Amino acid sequence: MAIKIAVMNQKGGVGKSSVVHCLTDKLRGKGRVLVLDLDQQNNQQTLLNMRDNVSKEASAAGILMNGFDPKKCIIPVSKNVDLIHSGGRTIENFDRFSKDDSEKISTQLKRAMHDIENEYDFILMDSSPTMTLIHQNIVCYADFLLIPCDMDILSFSATRSIMHFIGALNSKVPWSKAEILGILPVRYDKRRNVDDLVMTDLLSLEENELLGGAKVFSPISDSANMKTTQVRRKFISEAFPKSRISDDFDRVVSQILEEIPKRTPKVPGAVLAKGEARAWN
Ligand SMILES: Nc1ncnc2c1ncn2[C@@H]1O[C@H](COP(=O)(O)OP(=O)(O)OP(=O)(O)O)[C@@H](O)[C@H]1O
Ligand SMILES: [Mg+2]
Repeated sequence: MAIKIAVMNQKGGVGKSSVVHCLTDKLRGKGRVLVLDLDQQNNQQTLLNMRDNVSKEASAAGILMNGFDPKKCIIPVSKNVDLIHSGGRTIENFDRFSKDDSEKISTQLKRAMHDIENEYDFILMDSSPTMTLIHQNIVCYADFLLIPCDMDILSFSATRSIMHFIGALNSKVPWSKAEILGILPVRYDKRRNVDDLVMTDLLSLEENELLGGAKVFSPISDSANMKTTQVRRKFISEAFPKSRISDDFDRVVSQILEEIPKRTPKVPGAVLAKGEARAWN
């Protein structure tokens, strides 16, 4: 069974899609990765350079709303990397036309994806900068949530809000299984005083019980290489293998893979057992 990690923050532009793309890069050497884009902006399709000859219907939107078989929505990208694109703006209709947030609606993604989980080691989900029924589905499906936070007070505030949102879901919604894996500071520059102030505030959140023992991972640098990599439609380890930002993601992936097995109470045994048998520990 795959380890399912959703990258979420309702604040726009904090680096969610870039983080998903770089984690895909760093995890593809450790196992099979499925990138599941649940954001109408469909950025993973662009970042993975998969815009041509792609069926609009065979998408996350099709899976959620039209009962499409996820196996038929898979786009092979490269060795160990597959994509299910979001379907663009049509995915918003799931939120618009769903009548309630019942268990049936909130676990639609989980039920639909069940059959293909065994084919992957990691499922990485990108999400939109809002909080909708799609996010409720993500929270019911993902094993872990990773929250990227940019180096400013508004991103910090959004990070706190998402912790409250997850806390409220966990206490009110019995079928929610959300667990915050950690906060990932992004676009960090140690030369900027404000970045250290935000980092101090972020680290203080580790004491907050809403974080449930999750940690603040080591920061990802503010780097022009990120944008250049994306324009070239490459992975960071292809475009800038010896860069600071590539090293940052290596470090964070090691921390993530160390962290996951520690989460024994909520992680299904099967995930741990299989994970331990693999080389990523
Ligand atoms: N570490 C970084 N250094 C420099 N630029 C970055 C970094 N991470 C992301 N960016 C840039 O910041 C911008 C926003 O990033 P991204 O689109 O990944 O954010 P997002 O949270 O997915 O946005 P949205 O909320 O619209 O989905 C992009 O131009 C991206 O190239
Ligand atoms: Mg995005």
